[in-house]
Amino acid sequence: RKFNVAVVGATGAVGEELFRVLEEVNFPINKLIPLASARSAGSKIEYMNKEVTVLELTETVFEENDVEIAFFSAGGSVSEKFAKFAVEAGAVVIDNTSHFRMDPKVPLVVPEVNPEDIKLWKDTGIIANPNCSTIQMVQSLKPLDDLYGIKRVDVSTYQAVSGAGKTGMEELVKQMQDFFAFRLDETEIKAFPYQIALNVIPQIDVAKENGFTKEEMKMVNETQKIMHKNIQVAATCVRVPVLRSHSESITVTFGENVEVNLDDVREALNNFENLKVIDDLPNKKYPMPIISTDTDYTYVGRIRKDVYASNIVHYFNVADQVRVGAATNAVRIALKWIDMENDI
Ligand code: A2P
Repeated sequence: RKFNVAVVGATGAVGEELFRVLEEVNFPINKLIPLASARSAGSKIEYMNKEVTVLELTETVFEENDVEIAFFSAGGSVSEKFAKFAVEAGAVVIDNTSHFRMDPKVPLVVPEVNPEDIKLWKDTGIIANPNCSTIQMVQSLKPLDDLYGIKRVDVSTYQAVSGAGKTGMEELVKQMQDFFAFRLDETEIKAFPYQIALNVIPQIDVAKENGFTKEEMKMVNETQKIMHKNIQVAATCVRVPVLRSHSESITVTFGENVEVNLDDVREALNNFENLKVIDDLPNKKYPMPIISTDTDYTYVGRIRKDVYASNIVHYFNVADQVRVGAATNAVRIALKWIDMENDI
């Protein structure tokens, strides 16, 4: 059976990647309906070597096109306003924004970690895709939690500008051009609070009252919701001048009596679906954004025991957040949903 599939935000960074991933997995599409704002209505996207016209997102477009699966990645306010029309038209909404993530009735899913939560979609018609930094982190936490039981996670992120969509990527490129033209002092700063070229910015999203940022608290709350466990998480989220792929330096603390065995840790990580271990420091082998970009894997390396405590392990985790952290995760959710909900 094939489905009528809408992509809301079809002209954005994640939307464009979604088409690529849908093509690669040969997603069972009957009709593809790319949706964006009135600004882009009438423009074309390419899918399977055919041009498809972008339609304007309206309240009635889902019903008019008998949409059955709707991917949303046009920002939280668009999901807030329009997801209900897709649901009313009978579609399952797979929402890439933060709008529904912490709604207790809406499942928040990383298919390798909590696929069974997809079943809860019936309550609201919506399945939420977690934040990109959370997705790649929980993919590596899950096998470690199964192995030893995690108590606490301390993480620092090195997040690419594509997390801020196309505007973020364009801004870094423009600033680099301005740097080489000796014009960096007058460069435009819009997507980030400061110049991002040749800089790192220890703030992603707005400040919360507890001293953390909204992005950092997403990593706390979403991890607990996905893992169904009150794991303590402390995050420091940092924007770096990388175009694609987020990196994370992760410290995991297990129960007090755990004696970490690195061979077991490596094996558990390597055997986990869609995870790859690259871990050979003497030979300069470890994950980096230039390795993960344009792939569907989450890479883990620099795996080492704490110098002082036998129940603590440190590692480095990298994934293409436009794919693994957004488009690919959404498509994996949709494929699992098809498996679970449709007798085909
Ligand atoms: P448009 O290109 O018509 O503005 P990105 O995350 O890369 O910035 O992309 C955002 C995506 O969300 C784009 O496809 C954009 O379409 C879409 N979008 C933004 N605002 C709206 C809106 N109000 N209605 C429909 N689509 C929107």
